[in-house]
Amino acid sequence: MHPDLEEITHDAETIARRVRELAAEIDRDYAGKEILLVGVLKGAFMLMADLARELSTPTDVDFMAVSSYGSSTQSSGVVRILKDLDRDISGRHVLLVEDILDSGLTLQYLVRNLGARKPASLAVITLLTKPDPLRPDVPLYEGFAVPDRFVVGYGLDYDQAYRGLPYIGVLKPEIYA
Ligand code: IMP
Ligand code: MG
Repeated sequence: MHPDLEEITHDAETIARRVRELAAEIDRDYAGKEILLVGVLKGAFMLMADLARELSTPTDVDFMAVSSYGSSTQSSGVVRILKDLDRDISGRHVLLVEDILDSGLTLQYLVRNLGARKPASLAVITLLTKPDPLRPDVPLYEGFAVPDRFVVGYGLDYDQAYRGLPYIGVLKPEIYA
């Protein structure tokens, strides 16, 4: 385990198993359709790569980058688009891929923003959910519920570090205190 972590909450095998389950569920729900996976950079990149490989449904991928104003461990809900999608999504079945739902403010903004572009459908998959987030009013696939502690790994960062860890764990509070 990385020395900056307090504990591992989800090891690589546990994550892989859950991603396979979610992919099977999504395959059933989207039978006969094509999905546009929209990854929210950078945190979702690892889930995006694993999900795209597990899905049997034809997919195509695009990415957005957003920044939410606020401290490095808490978002404010004021979101700025740093990189928009390359293409129009009207008429597409869009599945927004997120790393974690914390307050849910970032996702609420993204769902409204993408919803206004007239996709054929819009749904969200998030790897992790903190307790009691604001939930979007579109279908939501959720990987794991996590306690209200700061977690890193499998795409999630603290100050751009730890994204490459193949597992998810709780960061020692003294690292960000
Ligand atoms: P929200 O708008 O409060 O839901 O925040 C969502 C964003 O905050 C995520 O996409 C992450 O970038 C970041 N975030 C929230 N909690 C954590 C965490 O525990 N670890 C790493 N990033 C987090
Ligand atoms: Mg993020």
